[in-house]
Amino acid sequence: MVISHLVAVSNNNVIGKDNDLPWKLKRDLQHFKNYTTGKTIVMGRKTYESIGRPLPNRRNIIISSTIRSIDGAEVFSSLEAALEALKHEDEIIITGGSYLFNDTADIVNKLVITFVDTSIEDGDVFYSDIDYKKWNLVEESFFQKDSENEHDFSIKVYEKSTSSE
Ligand SMILES: NC(=O)c1ccc[n+]([C@@H]2O[C@H](COP(=O)([O-])OP(=O)(O)OC[C@H]3O[C@@H](n4cnc5c(N)ncnc54)[C@H](OP(=O)(O)O)[C@@H]3O)[C@@H](O)[C@H]2O)c1
Repeated sequence: MVISHLVAVSNNNVIGKDNDLPWKLKRDLQHFKNYTTGKTIVMGRKTYESIGRPLPNRRNIIISSTIRSIDGAEVFSSLEAALEALKHEDEIIITGGSYLFNDTADIVNKLVITFVDTSIEDGDVFYSDIDYKKWNLVEESFFQKDSENEHDFSIKVYEKSTSSE
């Protein structure tokens, strides 16, 4: 089974600020939609609240010990319970936030990362420390900033290097 992280990070590893994304990147939101549609996404309660609704045409899994149910999504009180329920899926996409990225750092085997070419000095949520030397870069694409994308960014896909397992 593929367990992936789908995340956008700044040059200083920030992923969030004030429970929102710290940038406007329309092309990256399109990438998120393209990558996740028809698949299963797993997110923490705060990320769900930041998005504000279950995303259509995807299986939405929310991890929370305080929310019991959400129309259009499946709520689990622990990551372990969610993973058990999802064990027959081809791919589980972890879409944040920091708690879930950290909790799955040992089991993730694919990284789909948008490297946003900016530093966010007042960010308050960070991505996990990843040792990229242990990962194989398998895809890379670059996007230049424009009127709908406020920074340059690269999308890189990594798979776990078998030699490190
Ligand atoms: N740049 C990106 O790619 C990206 C992606 C996602 C999110 N973000 C940003 O990150 C921020 C939100 O992330 P966050 O780290 O603050 O919060 P989060 O991980 O989205 O949510 C944390 C909450 O999820 C629940 N949770 C997480 N792990 C759990 C576990 N193992 N067991 C039980 N419950 C668990 C808990 O909810 P309860 O308190 O209800 O128990 C916890 O308080 C926002 O700023 C958002 O915009 C950025």
